[in-house]
Amino acid sequence: MSRSEHIAVVGAGLMGHGIAQVFAARGHEVILYDLNPGVLKEALVKIRTNLEFLSENGLGLREDIEPALERIKAVSTLQEAITGARFVVEAVAENLEIKQALFREMEAYCSPITILATNTSVISITEIAARTRARERVVGTHFWNPPYLVPLVEVVGGRETLPEVKDYTFHLLKSVGKHPVLVKKDVPGFVGNRLQHALWREAISIVEQGIADPETVDDVIKNGFGIRLPVLGPLENADLVGLDLTFQIHDYILKFIENSPAPSPLLRRKLEAGDLGFKTGRGFYTWDQESMGQCRKGLVEHLIRWNVEHQPEEE
Ligand SMILES: NC(=O)c1ccc[n+]([C@@H]2O[C@H](COP(=O)([O-])OP(=O)(O)OC[C@H]3O[C@@H](n4cnc5c(N)ncnc54)[C@H](O)[C@@H]3O)[C@@H](O)[C@H]2O)c1
Repeated sequence: MSRSEHIAVVGAGLMGHGIAQVFAARGHEVILYDLNPGVLKEALVKIRTNLEFLSENGLGLREDIEPALERIKAVSTLQEAITGARFVVEAVAENLEIKQALFREMEAYCSPITILATNTSVISITEIAARTRARERVVGTHFWNPPYLVPLVEVVGGRETLPEVKDYTFHLLKSVGKHPVLVKKDVPGFVGNRLQHALWREAISIVEQGIADPETVDDVIKNGFGIRLPVLGPLENADLVGLDLTFQIHDYILKFIENSPAPSPLLRRKLEAGDLGFKTGRGFYTWDQESMGQCRKGLVEHLIRWNVEHQPEEE
């Protein structure tokens, strides 16, 4: 892999702008495209703000900001974005039909070696690639929000993805400071969102059943097993306590744990009432501008601290 590859990012919203930033900050030429010119313009402003914020907090040098920004070019057509790109990351809406149509269109403009990656959160890579001829060059790269502060990227091949495509993708991500992991099977939700939403389903079910209120559920995690998670994954934890104990606990408890294949009726009722969380000021909690600001600030401060503590010793 050469030092600088030409990367294209399609979709410049919440994830796309952050993904573009990750590649540009590590020396790649990045072409950024979005259907919506307003989003595209805003994306460049956000990237500047993010880079300034990171450098003010000890993550990156001030003198590297302008060069990184100069490496990002916003374009107004998909063709301009894709032509000449070695690696494309799609970060448009989480909708199978939109992604399938986009991949079909993108392959018309790309070279025979261009890798087409999707940032889908949960959709099968095989399905996204289904209407594309170059299915062997389609790969999943599931970044987490915000992509410049959360290291993990799940790399997932579809049924026909070539091993060398997954390999190239893995090494490219590693070279820009990400923490890629290879998921062995293309299943909806991959690994991270399967785990995360198993927990969310149970959390919502506990509230729905009146076992505990939302504050208590979040409190249990934030002040209980959540503290251990960064250093002790569930499988390490199972080994630590013993698989015999794990078996006994599962033998007793699993039948009581939520296993519904559909979203919770409580969640549906909240949607119908227009309670969407931050978007409307009410969800499981009631929010105002101040509490939303504090919540976001707390998260960013936590992520910054984590990144500062985990900076590599030497570049
Ligand atoms: N939001 C998250 O936390 C998160 C985390 C990981 C993965 N993802 C995934 O990343 C993808 C993007 O999510 P997001 O949160 O950034 O969404 P977003 O709505 O913020 O951005 C999507 C952008 O895509 C643009 N777009 C839509 N169709 C397009 C097209 N055909 N061509 C070019 N641009 C198009 C829209 O104008 C919009 O700006 C989704 O697949 C999502 O599931 C999101």
